[in-house]
Amino acid sequence: MRNLNAGFEGQFTPGLLADAWHGEHSALQPAGNAATEIAALFWAMAVGAAVIWLLMVALGAYAFRTHQGLHPPRLPWFIIGGGMAVPSVVLAVLLGFGLSAMPRLVGPAPQGALRVHVTGEQWWWRVSYETPTSPEAERIERIELANEIHLPVDRPVEFVLDSADVIHSFWIPSLAGKVDTFPGRTTRLVVTPTSEGVYQGVCAEFCGGSHAWMEFTVVVESAKAFDTWLTSQAAPAVATPDEASTRGQTLFRQQGCGACHTVRGHVARSRVGPDLTHIGGRHSIAAGRLPNGHEALIRWLRDPKGLKPEGLMPSFAMLPEDDLAALATYLHALK
Ligand code: CUA
Repeated sequence: MRNLNAGFEGQFTPGLLADAWHGEHSALQPAGNAATEIAALFWAMAVGAAVIWLLMVALGAYAFRTHQGLHPPRLPWFIIGGGMAVPSVVLAVLLGFGLSAMPRLVGPAPQGALRVHVTGEQWWWRVSYETPTSPEAERIERIELANEIHLPVDRPVEFVLDSADVIHSFWIPSLAGKVDTFPGRTTRLVVTPTSEGVYQGVCAEFCGGSHAWMEFTVVVESAKAFDTWLTSQAAPAVATPDEASTRGQTLFRQQGCGACHTVRGHVARSRVGPDLTHIGGRHSIAAGRLPNGHEALIRWLRDPKGLKPEGLMPSFAMLPEDDLAALATYLHALK
């Protein structure tokens, strides 16, 4: 339901889904070169369809108001003109317009494009950056993150897409069109973001029970802010010295969270679930399911299956309230 609506609205804040986190996502308010082409195509199609519709309504009205036998001399021209010429011309113009946009939408990545790898998984997005992106960041080769993508404004980016399980579809409505992700096959999407902002990305292909909870955040920012962000993301997690965080970190280890998650610098190195090294700095948790925050983390730890049906994340509802709070404090401090 949400994905059907996604392209046609700005901020999406329905009552039922109010606790989900959303950035901007409107295909009709483009913030990237590809989305601009697609929006132009949409308006051309809409105008073309409106012209044909008006003509049909006019012809219908004419037919109703004219007595039988009054219009035979002009009938052949109605059929040739209205039935053949007008549809052919309108459809040919729209086809030409659509095809003319293709080279700009599916061309190869230009030199100097940033490359970001994204893997769709049930039901989240594994993101990794190929660097260097700046002289200071030369040592970084590939860092792995989850469910949040930052991009520098006005620089082309090539997304290299694949899937770990079933077919998903990678879609940032404000920036570009959809591209499906397949297990065992790589697809690509090239786009240049043109406006700074926070945008919502979604999975646009039904992929199982929690398909509707497979979102991600895209932050388009200045090149300087992007470099700063990427450098901080490449750094290992910093331990927060306060008591609750320390206890949370111990609980994280004792409860076996590291069997699925990575917190770089804090022992855990598993790649089954999302990387949590800097989870505290993300806009949302659980792939857009909840806005990030201490309370949200507790809710998630207590009832992941209720929030995201069929997900792999086990429930920690058996832990006492203050243990859950300590875990949430630890995770939220991982900025
Ligand atoms: Cu992944 Cu729908």
